[in-house]
Amino acid sequence: MVVCVCNAIRESDVREAVRNGASCPLSAYQSLGRRPRCGQCIPYARSIVEEESVAA
Ligand code: FES
Repeated sequence: MVVCVCNAIRESDVREAVRNGASCPLSAYQSLGRRPRCGQCIPYARSIVEEESVAA
């Protein structure tokens, strides 16, 4: 499932970024070498980050 349409970031990419140390959507995107553009995905990305952080 795609989280960020602008950057074509998938949910699995975000989860992997969190496991690699990202603690928020911005740092997750940065670790993927991307940046938020329209910002629409941020709330969803944040919920994935939080979910994955709890699971870790
Ligand atoms: S959908 Fe992620 S920045 Fe636009």
